[in-house]
Amino acid sequence: MNEVQIIGTGSYAPLNIMTNQQLAEIVDTSDEWIVSMTGIKERHISQGENTSDLATKAALSALKDAGIKPEDIDLIILASTSPDQFVPSTACIVQGNIGAVNAMAFDISAACTGFIFALNIAMQFLRTGKSKKALIIGAEVLSKIVDWTDRNTCVLFGDGAGATVLEAGIKKGIISINSASEGQKGGALTCPTVDVKNTFTKGNENFKATISMDGKEIFKFAVKTIASSISQILDENDCTLDDIKYVVCHQANFRIIEFVVRKLKADKDKFFVNLDRYGNTSAASIAIALDEMNKNNLLTAGDKIILVGFGGGLTYGASLIEWTMNK
Ligand code: UT7
Repeated sequence: MNEVQIIGTGSYAPLNIMTNQQLAEIVDTSDEWIVSMTGIKERHISQGENTSDLATKAALSALKDAGIKPEDIDLIILASTSPDQFVPSTACIVQGNIGAVNAMAFDISAACTGFIFALNIAMQFLRTGKSKKALIIGAEVLSKIVDWTDRNTCVLFGDGAGATVLEAGIKKGIISINSASEGQKGGALTCPTVDVKNTFTKGNENFKATISMDGKEIFKFAVKTIASSISQILDENDCTLDDIKYVVCHQANFRIIEFVVRKLKADKDKFFVNLDRYGNTSAASIAIALDEMNKNNLLTAGDKIILVGFGGGLTYGASLIEWTMNK
């Protein structure tokens, strides 16, 4: 079996920034409520760019960081809750945009855990030798599917994309990865596509393809699964949090991270946070965080980090990684 390592990262977010004050002009909310309840101060909101546009920019940035050509990639997996369209997949659109002519490309749907699921799937192809170099992308234009009249949800989300290039080889970069689903709890976070009633009728005026959520249920699920996922992956690899340089949780809510820190009696400085500037970018959040850490030289070869995702499905997962890139 091959080992798998990260050889490049990239990210992109739309230039347009929406502050909490701007949101307060749309719905009955305030900067004070949003910051104290979530930690979010602003988010990037697309003005005309679709999910594949963001993903393409993140992908090109990751390829540049890896120092490889698009033709070198033989697998593209794109995770998104807000794909451009049903067909073709957003991964195939990105493949066409970047000219990755030798790749198999497909989308996956695992909500905010999408990047961890994509990493897990790519691992299987790379470890068995079926692929040599894979591009995994988390990309979202959630502003397309947010209900901008619902203050319970619209203040939480943002648009962005992150990409990572993986290579099969002898260096053990991805040490361990776990992911799981609890489909019986799926109703806690939903976004329908096309209403089944539209099949034979001219449409249903009440139908809205927007995100709705039981915030408290997701909060409880998040704290429980993040803490247990971290503990599990540490135990499986005979490590403790002392061995870990950073924990990168899916960036949804600062209070979720604070709860986890308390539950694990952990050092809060180990938990990377950038949700104040991005909001919740679902499948993109961990990949964007990883790229920021890489580009800001927070990581050196030999550092161990844990990535943890949770979200709709419900889904969750974690990965223990040894950073192998030397800048
Ligand atoms: O990627 C996974 C995606 N989902 C998540 O991560 C969500 C996880 N859940 C959460 O982050 C929290 O549940 C929220 C931040 C969304 C909400 O916090 P909460 O403690 O569950 O508050 P709540 O929904 O019970 O609302 C408390 C109050 C309510 O008013 P009343 O009934 O007490 O008068 C809400 O109507 O806050 C009100 N409220 C708001 N007020 C101002 C809800 N949203 C807002 C808002 N601005 N945007």
